[in-house]
Amino acid sequence: MYVCLCVGVTDRDIANAVSDGARSWREVRETTGCAGQCGKCACTGKSVMREAISQE
Ligand code: FES
Repeated sequence: MYVCLCVGVTDRDIANAVSDGARSWREVRETTGCAGQCGKCACTGKSVMREAISQE
């Protein structure tokens, strides 16, 4: 599923960033580029990140 349409970031991209060690929204943003433009995806992106971290 696409989380960020501006940059083209999927939930899997976010999960991969977490697998690679990202543990904060800032780190996920830096790794994936998510929320780098309009920012409307930030809430969904954070939820996906928290879910991925909880499954680590
Ligand atoms: Fe992610 Fe616009 S949808 S920055």
